[in-house]
Amino acid sequence: MSPTPLKKMLLASLLSIFVVGGASNPVASPAEDALHKRGLEILKTTTTEHHTIDWVPLHSQGKIAPAPPPRAPYVPDPARNVTLATSELQQETAELGPAGTVPIPRTNLTPSIAKNGLPNKKTSQAKSKRQYSGDHWYCSSDLSVDNYGGSGVFSAFKAFVQNGGDFSLLQTAVTVSSTSKGEQTVEAGWINYPNQVSAPHIFTYYTTDGYTGNGNNVGGWNQQVGGWVQYSSTIFPGTYFTPLSTIDGPQYEITMEYEYYAGNWWLSVQNQWIGYYPGTLFEISGEVTLSDYSDQIYFYGEIYQSESGLTTTDMGSGEFGSLEWPWSAYIHNIWYYNLSYGVVPWDGTFWCSDTSRYNAVWLDDSSQAWGSFVYLGGPGAGGVVGG
Ligand SMILES: *[C@@H]1O[C@H](CO)[C@@H](O)[C@H](O)[C@H]1NC(C)=O
Ligand SMILES: *[C@@H]1O[C@H](CO)[C@@H](O)[C@H](O)[C@H]1NC(C)=O
Repeated sequence: MSPTPLKKMLLASLLSIFVVGGASNPVASPAEDALHKRGLEILKTTTTEHHTIDWVPLHSQGKIAPAPPPRAPYVPDPARNVTLATSELQQETAELGPAGTVPIPRTNLTPSIAKNGLPNKKTSQAKSKRQYSGDHWYCSSDLSVDNYGGSGVFSAFKAFVQNGGDFSLLQTAVTVSSTSKGEQTVEAGWINYPNQVSAPHIFTYYTTDGYTGNGNNVGGWNQQVGGWVQYSSTIFPGTYFTPLSTIDGPQYEITMEYEYYAGNWWLSVQNQWIGYYPGTLFEISGEVTLSDYSDQIYFYGEIYQSESGLTTTDMGSGEFGSLEWPWSAYIHNIWYYNLSYGVVPWDGTFWCSDTSRYNAVWLDDSSQAWGSFVYLGGPGAGGVVGG
């Protein structure tokens, strides 16, 4: 054996000691412990403004499924001042892991209760006079159709949140509406949830059992639990983007598409396949589950309020959806795949929990550049945008 590989190995191990903070602190963090328990070996640790990221070998996650073929990339409408936003690891100054590794961010563990179900069509009038803590507010549309996933282009505003335990999101959910364990979902969207990540970010979520469990191969956010298989080296669940949209100013966008491909639920973001949920997570013997296809799909905005008074947390830009371009948040080119992988423009209507706080306008017209789209948002209680 020539001395060169040995030297390289020594250098690599010195470097890895250096980047993880030195041998003087041999105690693994809870995040490192969690990865080790999932059999994932950390080859390098890097930092960005809002994340500490462990880089693990792609194949240490198991046998990687074939990704769907690349699509014709989405290009923003040249008639508008719109650009695709850039993820934290796509910045020129970002430090990446060694070739063949994928990023797993260390996370704050947030309570699973904050994501506790799909829009339930309960209007605020139906609620009794009581504390609003734990309430969810929606502008939502759903279709009960058999599908292999769907797609939308999301505006990237930083929604004001009243406190770090509230969240404000725009998302899609691809679901099976009932199994013997409850509904099953794969979800993805754009969220401001400071207790999860201090900057607005994309998220994924899944449940195999009607939002009952939170844990490896059962359900949960991002890569906080096992289940998600990370594929991209630059975009991961939880990653933040820059720059962001400004009201009546330049707009930034994020594309998100779920596709059921070769038995797995792949997610595309900014025209690349970033990872997938294995279909096997959802299997229940003798039943139709999300391991087969989806029978209901949603696009919606949601506010979760953690405190008791009516929340001032904003949806979208904070401007009402009815103000439209270039003030309101939006999702455009909304469509789903039917079971022949035909692209079907969205023709669902949107409803909002309380139109005095958040509202929506929508159009289903595939002849327009934006196809089927919705403007949605609002300032919440008190009517102040950004406060
Ligand atoms: C787009 O926004 C940027 C930043 O505000 C501005 O400099 C530029 O002139 C705008 N372009 C168009 C076509 O409006
Ligand atoms: C799927 O959608 C395409 C249009 O994109 C249509 O031509 C086809 O008939 C649809 N297939 C089914 C099974 O509905």
